[in-house]
Amino acid sequence: MDMTKIEWKSDLDTGIHLIDSQHREFIKLVNNLLDSSVNGDDIQLLMKSFAFLRYYICEHFSVEESAMITYGYPFYSMHKNIHDSFRDEINSMELNLRTTKSPHDSLVKLNYLIVNWFMNHIKVEDKKLCAYLAAQAQQRNENLTGKLDQIVGMFFKTRDSA
Ligand SMILES: [Fe+2]
Repeated sequence: MDMTKIEWKSDLDTGIHLIDSQHREFIKLVNNLLDSSVNGDDIQLLMKSFAFLRYYICEHFSVEESAMITYGYPFYSMHKNIHDSFRDEINSMELNLRTTKSPHDSLVKLNYLIVNWFMNHIKVEDKKLCAYLAAQAQQRNENLTGKLDQIVGMFFKTRDSA
């Protein structure tokens, strides 16, 4: 089965630098993971990369969710439900990776999920959210970047410890 390398296109930009850079980082991590699964089947290494990916995406979702709460986003529960189902998918995928005889197939599924689901999520839901955050911050005369940096600090640990 073939895997599509994921490419960043400008229609994925939400206009909020911090969120965009996390999305880019995530896509980079997925691409690296796909590469390593093609180049060799060191399952230990694969699991480690996958665990980091899972950590990264969960923290990223937490950042978005905290920002929604901070700014009273009216579509919070809908957006959070979407995140939750993606978290579930990723969790069950990790379980699957641990037991499967063909990790490659699991990663094909991951690839499919990212291309068909995550990218659309960014284009629709995250863009809608980011437009709201920017407008709210402006209305409250707040520095959105500073606020988001604070929120990120609450969740992300340094990369070395992951
Ligand atoms: Fe989101």
